[in-house]
Amino acid sequence: MSRRNKITIVGAGNVGATAAHWAAQKHLGDIVLVDIAQGVPQGKALDLAEASPVMGFDLKIVGTNGYDETADSDVVVITAGVPRKKDPVTGKFTSRDELVEINRKIVGGVTREIASRSPNAVLICVSNPLDAMCHVMHAESGFPKERVIGMAGVLDTARYKYFLSEALNVSVDDIHGMVLGGHGDTMVPLPSHTSVAGIPLTELLPQDKIDAIIQRTRGGGGEIVGLLGYSGYYAPAAATVAMVESIVRDRKRVLPCAALLGGEYGYKDLFIGVPCVLGKGGVEKIIEMKLGDKEKGMLEVSANAVRELVALLPYGKGQAT
Ligand code: APR
Repeated sequence: MSRRNKITIVGAGNVGATAAHWAAQKHLGDIVLVDIAQGVPQGKALDLAEASPVMGFDLKIVGTNGYDETADSDVVVITAGVPRKKDPVTGKFTSRDELVEINRKIVGGVTREIASRSPNAVLICVSNPLDAMCHVMHAESGFPKERVIGMAGVLDTARYKYFLSEALNVSVDDIHGMVLGGHGDTMVPLPSHTSVAGIPLTELLPQDKIDAIIQRTRGGGGEIVGLLGYSGYYAPAAATVAMVESIVRDRKRVLPCAALLGGEYGYKDLFIGVPCVLGKGGVEKIIEMKLGDKEKGMLEVSANAVRELVALLPYGKGQAT
């Protein structure tokens, strides 16, 4: 009897639970939802499982507060973490350094639990600050770099493509392009590599409109927070599931992901958002594309932002071990 794929999602909050939903709908495999909150992963897993007769997915979906049921997972998505919060007494927001320290402990602990039970899994990091948490997962798991991947570029690219499809009034399916680098200010959009069914974007949209869309994409996360008061989760979860799907189905899709570079693009030992071929083995190839001077400069800004965060981690001189 062939075994179904097994997908573990740690953190059954907004992104984690929504990712479980999309993954079930796409029949990607059995799902284990893990969270520290008592009853939450169990309740969300049961609720989702109860939808299966209506939606037609024959999958095992369980929720748990422990890790034993995660054993031998093929893919593990880690969304566990805390967001920046306002201190009710001082009114100050969690600083970036404090957030790194808090989430490092959470993500590090989760990674050790996972790695000991699923030594062959591909790990996908969603927790923020993303690039720093990728380094934590790589160091704490001891996994080869191919099996630790960060989700950011697929989400930024999805926002970029959606805004372009809206501006051009064409199907999202016909927009091709990618966003590299990190989130927000460190994003590297590639309008000169964007096309609409093969037609260069620059022939279809004036530069000022392209620039406005790039700006909106950079602020895409903040735009949702401004509306909801908390982070978005449909698009982040969908982006995560696109990566899971390419891995478990060995589709070898070319997706922009945070990967540990080993000299590509002139960088070493840093997680940076670059085009990756995702298959059963995780990052099966990093595609090196020609970048213009402006784009190279933006990638350097991204790399410096990651270096600053990595320097806060206790894994040696800003280098992943
Ligand atoms: N082990 C397991 N789960 C944990 C742990 C832990 N040590 N610590 C926190 N969690 C869980 C929380 O209980 C919560 O259910 O992680 C979940 C996070 O969910 P949300 O707060 O809803 O956050 P979400 O919007 O899903 O974002 C997930 O994505 O953008 C990043 O930084 C963000 O880390 C966050 C992640």
